Amino acid sequence: MKHLSLFSSFLLAIALATTSHTDAFTRNDFPKEFIFGAATSAYQWEGAVDEDGRTPSVWDTTSHCNNESVGGDIACDGYHKYKEDVKLMAEMGLEAFRFSISWSRILPNGRRPINPKGLLFYKNLIKELLIHGIEPHVTLYHYDLPQSLEDEYGGWTNRKIIEDFTAFADVCFREFGEDVKLWTTINEATIFAISSYGQGIKFGHCTPTNCSTGNSCMETYIAGHNMLLAHASASNLYKLKYKSKQRGSVGLSIFAFGLSPYTNSIDDEIATERAKAFLFGWMLKPLVFGDYPDEMKRTLGSRLPVFLAEESEQVKGSSDFIGIIHYMTLYVTNRPYPLVFPLNTNKVFSADIGAYMISTGNSSSFTFEPTPWGLEGVLEYLKQSYNNLPIYILENGRPMKHDSMLQDTPRLVYIQAYIGAVLNAIKNGSDTRGYFVWSLVDLYEIEGGYKLSFGINYVNFSDSGLKRTPKLSASWYTGFLNGAIDVASQDIITQLQQNNFSGSFSV
Ligand SMILES: *[C@@H]1O[C@H](CO)[C@@H](O)[C@H](O)[C@H]1NC(C)=O
Ligand SMILES: *[C@@H]1O[C@H](CO)[C@@H](O)[C@H](O)[C@H]1NC(C)=O
Ligand SMILES: *[C@@H]1O[C@H](CO)[C@@H](O)[C@H](O)[C@H]1NC(C)=O
Ligand SMILES: *[C@@H]1O[C@H](CO)[C@@H](O)[C@H](O)[C@H]1NC(C)=O
Ligand SMILES: *[C@@H]1O[C@H](CO)[C@@H](O)[C@H](O)[C@H]1NC(C)=O
Repeated sequence: MKHLSLFSSFLLAIALATTSHTDAFTRNDFPKEFIFGAATSAYQWEGAVDEDGRTPSVWDTTSHCNNESVGGDIACDGYHKYKEDVKLMAEMGLEAFRFSISWSRILPNGRRPINPKGLLFYKNLIKELLIHGIEPHVTLYHYDLPQSLEDEYGGWTNRKIIEDFTAFADVCFREFGEDVKLWTTINEATIFAISSYGQGIKFGHCTPTNCSTGNSCMETYIAGHNMLLAHASASNLYKLKYKSKQRGSVGLSIFAFGLSPYTNSIDDEIATERAKAFLFGWMLKPLVFGDYPDEMKRTLGSRLPVFLAEESEQVKGSSDFIGIIHYMTLYVTNRPYPLVFPLNTNKVFSADIGAYMISTGNSSSFTFEPTPWGLEGVLEYLKQSYNNLPIYILENGRPMKHDSMLQDTPRLVYIQAYIGAVLNAIKNGSDTRGYFVWSLVDLYEIEGGYKLSFGINYVNFSDSGLKRTPKLSASWYTGFLNGAIDVASQDIITQLQQNNFSGSFSV
């Protein structure tokens, strides 16, 4: 889960008149091969940051330098409690688990030699998943660049990252690829580039000077360019060296807001198309068609890197699927405004789009209206505009205050509505193949640390054993996955609230 504050300048208080009615459905209405899972990421789940040879990543540095507590030092202690968590998944009937690999656990300081204890942890985790019939979906990069590579050359702003990332991917494919068939190279690459390199929030650097000197209004697009090249390089390596034996697929993931015009004016409609070009086309056009969208080239001029012909060939077709991270819908209104100096780095990207984007959800105020039609729109748009590539929804979920605990009815309602949207999209021809709830358990969150959580299983962070307890949403998901729940909305929710459906509640 990422910086929702990016675009939400204020909260939209409009009635969501278009909330669509969802018919009753069950797990069996989805294709048999479709996978339902839940997700975590290494730094947010594992803890054990200085055990068995792991070295710090930029995320360790960021959480400590902000003096905001211990950061992910312990997190959920997944490193030691992975068997317990796999058991929890199995009890829920989860079909898949999405996690990420800590680069600096496997390759301390970013490069060889390999740390055998780091490898062993992931081999054990993968083995445990397979024993329980749970399919691993592995993300190679989830914000945790080895600090040493950041110090050495500035991380993703430098093309040296391409070689190092590819070497890291090579180790992972070779060591885990017999058991892992689904690989995401980079987590939500679009928002990662915007927030870390444009805004300088958290994991990158930001030099808020101005556009003539090389700085934050260039670095977003430079980092994004290097991400595309690094993804393509790793993906092509997989095709050459591993695919014929391992038969897996490799994709890139982007943050996919639902986008809708704020008014029905032509200007807002055109602004929405521009927003789609910047937020989707930026990465997907090169991946599917080999070059950046014209809207971006026109607006950004020399600030947008250029693909050499052979790079374009490398990037084109390098994503076997599109991974999307989806939480909310933005209303887009036309608002051309110039970049003003000194730069407000928060505004560079939306100034480039020439629009304000107004959010329906705001994680810090916990107002998160489900707008499932927004996801349906994204899936339909991807189907029509990007050759109907296979799609995995790698994150979807709703934040609540951590102490709101087990009765998380709003989260249950949210998840149910979005799964319904996925089904609608599939029925209309979208090749969506999987859905992962964010998150399996309460995690160390990017926004809000331990105070805000997305977990469908509660983690008691005050308890030395970090005890896990299923929330109402986990019971709903369990019932749904077992085919025991025929989603008919309110009835089921009331029943769950009264009867504690799975009978698994014990605080
Ligand atoms: C970090 O937090 C601790 C405890 O709240 C405080 O004593 C210390 O001064 C803080 N350090 C910095 C650099 O802000
Ligand atoms: C941009 O930065 C350069 C070098 O620091 C400076 O000379 C120039 O005046 C700045 N331009 C603006 C518009 O701030
Ligand atoms: C369903 O798909 C068709 C064909 O791609 C498209 O024209 C139509 O708008 C879609 N319907 C919805 C509700 O998205
Ligand atoms: C969390 O753990 C602490 C310490 O064991 C305990 O006092 C508290 O009741 C627990 N809270 C919940 C909600 O289970
Ligand atoms: C359901 O769980 C709540 C607390 O989680 C508890 O107070 C209540 O007694 C339980 N109901 C049943 C029928 O077990």
